[in-house]
Amino acid sequence: MPKMTFVERDGTRREVEAPLGLSVLEIAHKHGVDIEGACEGSLACSTCHVIVDASWFPKLETPTEDEEDMLDLAFDLQETSRLGCQLIMTDKLDGLVVKLPAGSRNAG
Ligand code: FES
Repeated sequence: MPKMTFVERDGTRREVEAPLGLSVLEIAHKHGVDIEGACEGSLACSTCHVIVDASWFPKLETPTEDEEDMLDLAFDLQETSRLGCQLIMTDKLDGLVVKLPAGSRNAG
């Protein structure tokens, strides 16, 4: 089973099992990691914002325009920011590391 790591706001690292085909948001929810995901993956909020570790960022699929638009509304936006609900676990992403942003803002 692939694994991924969430870095919590206080710097705590949590390595969790990351079943193939699940989104980073779904994996977070499975393990009680505090990412909101208000629209449950329908690209209508930015509350599933995560900051991808710089070494992993180039390995991800390019974000769609819809994702980019939503990301623009995310609080604490960084160069390697992505929406957690759009990152789907694959073999290639085994070991992925993402950080939780300082906060989130519900774009409604
Ligand atoms: S959960 Fe709303 S965009 Fe990801």
